[in-house]
Amino acid sequence: MAHHQDAIAPHGGKLINRMASAEQRAELLDKADTLPRVQLDERSQSDLELIAIGGFSPLTGFMEQEDYTNVVHNMRLSNGLPWSVPITLSVTEEEAAHLSEGSLIRLDSPEGKFVGVLELTQKYTYDKEQEAIHVYRTNDNKHPGVKVVYEQGPVNLAGPVWLLKREAHPLFPNYQIDPADSRSLFREREWKTIVGFQTRNPIHRAHEYIQKCALETVDGLFLHPLVGATKSDDIPADVRMRCYEILMERYYPQNRVILAINPAAMRYAGPREAIFHAMVRKNYGCTHFIVGRDHAGVGDYYGTYDAQHIFDEFEPAELGITPMKFEHAFYCTLTKGMATSKTSPSNPEQRIHLSGTKVREMLRRGEMPPPEFSRPEVAAELIKAMRVPSEA
Ligand code: ADX
Repeated sequence: MAHHQDAIAPHGGKLINRMASAEQRAELLDKADTLPRVQLDERSQSDLELIAIGGFSPLTGFMEQEDYTNVVHNMRLSNGLPWSVPITLSVTEEEAAHLSEGSLIRLDSPEGKFVGVLELTQKYTYDKEQEAIHVYRTNDNKHPGVKVVYEQGPVNLAGPVWLLKREAHPLFPNYQIDPADSRSLFREREWKTIVGFQTRNPIHRAHEYIQKCALETVDGLFLHPLVGATKSDDIPADVRMRCYEILMERYYPQNRVILAINPAAMRYAGPREAIFHAMVRKNYGCTHFIVGRDHAGVGDYYGTYDAQHIFDEFEPAELGITPMKFEHAFYCTLTKGMATSKTSPSNPEQRIHLSGTKVREMLRRGEMPPPEFSRPEVAAELIKAMRVPSEA
C-alpha cells in the first residue's frame, strides 16, 4: 500500500484495516456459540464497518473513556489528533453486567447475524447531557441526534474490533468503494486534487452548482452520499441514489466524477459533523471537502455557516483536508443561472430557493419541483418514488 503516491495521507498517517483474515474468521466462527453477544443497531453496525475499512482511521475500535472525554470536550483524541464525534457502542446496565473486561464479544447485526468481534478493554458510564451539549450544541431531546444519545444505553463498551467479512451492500454493490479502493482509483486517474461531497438529500441544482464550481478548480469529484441510518422523514437512500445516477448519466463528465456510497449513519450534529465528515473523506483520499450552508444541520439548531466557522478552530495542517466553503446557492432570475450573493447582485425576491421540507411537501402532493430547483428527470424520479400508495 504505497501511500506516498496518494494525494493525501489518511488521518493519523495510516489506513486502518480491521478485517478479519480468513484464518481469524474460521477461528471466530468456530467459537461463535461460546462468545457473549451484543446486538448492534443500524448505526453501530455502520460504525463497525467504517472502522474496519479504514473510513474512521486512526480508530481501531469503539472509543475508550479517555478518547471519548477528549472528543466530547476538546474535539480531539487523547493523542491530540482532531476528532469531533464520539464513536461508541452503548448498552444497558443489565447487558454490561455480564460482560467482563478482557473478554472477546461477538457482535451481531440488527438481524441477528454474527458480523464482528469486540475485544472488550473497558466499559464505562458517561454523561449524556454533556455529550449532547458539546457535540450537538443542544440538550433538546427533539434533536434527532440527541434523541439517539438519550435513548441509547448508559454504558459504553470499548476496545478494538474486527469485521468478520466485507459483505457486498445489498442495494448498492456497484457503488461500494472502500477507502483503499477510492485511493487506488484516484491514483489510477492521476488525480492530485479530489473534492469530496457529503449529502443525505436528493440532488438539487444548488448541490450541482457547488459541486461543479469546486470541480472547476480540482482534478476530480468524489460524490459520496451517505446511505446509513437517517431520520425517518429524509428521502430513502435508494431514491437518492437513482437521482444521482440520472445526474451522472446526463449532466456530469464521467471521467471526472466518481459516485460511491458512504455507509455512515447521520448524526445531524451540524458543525461537529462537518469536521467528522471531512476526516472520513480524507480517509477515502479526498484533498478537499465541500461545506455549504447549514452542513449536516437539522431544524434551527445551528447558524447557517457555523459548520464552516468550526474549521477555523483547527490548524489547517492538522486537518490535512481543505474545506471548500460555499454560500447559500439559488437560482437567480436576474442573471438567469445558479448563483450566490457573492456572484449575483439580485435582491431576495429575484432568487428561487426551496427548503427541503417545502420540496417534500410538494412531492407528497404530487407537484413537480420547478426546473430552477431540480433537474426535471430528478423531479420526475422523486414524484414517482414519493407517490404513497393509498391504503384506503
Ligand atoms: S447534509 O446533511 O448532508 O449536509 P445536504 O445533502 O442537503 O445535507 O447537503 C449536502 C451539502 O450541500 C452540504 O455541504 C450542504 O451544506 C450543501 N448545501 C445544500 N444546499 C445548499 C445550498 N442551497 N447552497 C449551498 N450549499 C448547500
